[in-house]
Amino acid sequence: MSAAEVDWDALHAEAKQVMRLAYAPYSKFPVGVAALVDDGRIVTGCNVENASYGMTLCAECGMVSDLIASGGGKLVAVVCVDGSGNFLSPCGRCRQLLFEHGGPQCLLMTPAGALPMSEILPWAFGPDQLP
Ligand code: THU
Repeated sequence: MSAAEVDWDALHAEAKQVMRLAYAPYSKFPVGVAALVDDGRIVTGCNVENASYGMTLCAECGMVSDLIASGGGKLVAVVCVDGSGNFLSPCGRCRQLLFEHGGPQCLLMTPAGALPMSEILPWAFGPDQLP
């Protein structure tokens, strides 16, 4: 799917909505993410922190869990936002998650426009590397 075919405003609205549900009492840095799946579904997630800081679940983890628990499929387009609703650059671990479930062509919205995961995580290790 090309970037022009994606309803980015709808994804942005869903990401901001789920961001408001984040559990981030430690960092006070809520994150929300919404993604379009190849069957037209929208899946979402927010960050869920923990008193044992290292156990924090990023918003993308929740979104991938929603993806799998609601029937699976491939991520086509992703919008990740911070507490102000600005586009957020996913952390390294979450780039790997997005690559696993979206592949190199999955689009991520950035302040510079929609970019493919092949640019967000160049020279990626992924499912194709395994026999
Ligand atoms: N966070 C995410 O949810 N996703 C990212 O890609 C970057 C960071 C969360 C983790 C933590 O709860 C807070 O943002 C501050 O790092």
